Amino acid sequence: MKMFFVVLISGVFLLLPATTPLFAQPAAKSLVDKECSKCHNTKRIYSANKKAGEWEKTVDRMIKKGAKIKPEEKDAVMKYLNTLNK
Ligand code: HEC
Repeated sequence: MKMFFVVLISGVFLLLPATTPLFAQPAAKSLVDKECSKCHNTKRIYSANKKAGEWEKTVDRMIKKGAKIKPEEKDAVMKYLNTLNK
């Protein structure tokens, strides 16, 4: 019985880092779809073709305008936006 819990708990710790990126992507996508469509539609975002680093400037500018992206969410949002680059 004790062994069961040891396996269970170490299993959770092994899985956590492995699954985090998988969870981060859809969460960032729904955040972009929700927050970034308040002033303009997301077509503006999905058709923008920005180089790495350019999204940061854009997101910072949008935050100044009033986009509600929390500092701890910014990283995930930027990673997601960078996957849109062609
Ligand atoms: C408070 C309103 C507001 C919100 C929320 C907002 N935007 Fe914008 N966005 C604007 C306005 C106004 C413009 C046009 C003027 C400009 O480009 O500064 C714009 C333009 C843009 C452009 C085209 C210009 C460029 O630099 O390529 C992109 C891309 C963009 N926004 C992305 C985003 C993203 C990503 C988010 C979410 C993090 C977001 N916006 C949220 C107001 C907003």
